[in-house]
Amino acid sequence: MTSAEISRRPIIIDTDPGQDDAIAILTALASPELDVLGITAVAGNVPLPLTLLNTRKLCELAGKPDTPVFEGCARPMVRSLVTAEHVHGKTGLDGPELPEPTMPVQEEHAVDFIIASLLAADDAGITLCPVGPLTNIALAMVKEPSIVPKIREIVLMGGAYWEGGNITPTAEFNIYVDPHAAHVVFTSGVPIVAHSLDVTHRALMTKEWIAAVRALETDVGRASAEMLTFYERFDEEKYGTNGGPLHDPNVIAYLIDPTIYEGKDCFVEVEIGSEKTMGQTSVDWWRVTKNEPNCHWIREVDSERFYALLLDRLGRYND
Ligand code: RIB
Ligand code: CA
Repeated sequence: MTSAEISRRPIIIDTDPGQDDAIAILTALASPELDVLGITAVAGNVPLPLTLLNTRKLCELAGKPDTPVFEGCARPMVRSLVTAEHVHGKTGLDGPELPEPTMPVQEEHAVDFIIASLLAADDAGITLCPVGPLTNIALAMVKEPSIVPKIREIVLMGGAYWEGGNITPTAEFNIYVDPHAAHVVFTSGVPIVAHSLDVTHRALMTKEWIAAVRALETDVGRASAEMLTFYERFDEEKYGTNGGPLHDPNVIAYLIDPTIYEGKDCFVEVEIGSEKTMGQTSVDWWRVTKNEPNCHWIREVDSERFYALLLDRLGRYND
């Protein structure tokens, strides 16, 4: 075995593609440090049939049609599904025209795949990387609580504290869509690393970076540039910035090089009572309560190193 194989970190990506999910998936599949055991689709940015289709399109774009892809939950645990076509387009992956995939969807349900993978692993054997609503992750914990000690870490994209919300004034989309699932995850006792809007809004894409992605002159480079050009228009208009945040790839970049980031262990809880603040992540950053921290809340990012890492990994694809 090569040294890379010996040190490859087993991960499961749970996703609702989503153009930013797409860059996270493409980055992970090009990174020898990571062993992507499978990718589980969940309803979120767009309904499940589309997030599942987009996940398969992306695996084929990456030239990895053997990646195990699983169908997950079609709606949140309690609330009705809220989607984000206004951001991602009606397909969820607007921008490029990607071919209809031929790779299979695995028979096993995503929740059962997550459970089976963890039960077969050593303690702290697998890292879960949810970058959409937490429905699949929470239901795996509810269905089979004995998986909890098998999870090394949950490194997720979700939440907001200093930044405010992006789908309501107080809530970030992934947590807002399924706040009850987020409550299950944040009270599970599993070590959590949260990449919230607090950090993702500090690393904005630039036109020059997207041009460098396009200049890779590969199918992945062209498709990524087309996705991101479509995707960033919404946040540029909303925030009046030159460039938008690229949320989900922060999870993968953290796994590859955690020194790009800085955070603090905090107690975080999810609002599931008030409709007005539903899905808000309350972060005890200044330790004003006696609650023990349950999350490493990321707040700082070296934006230059983040985008350089993404370009390096996207640049590893060739046609
Ligand atoms: O709030 C941003 C998050 O919601 C990202 O994961 C994006 O893909 C959407 O799922
Ligand atoms: Ca997402």
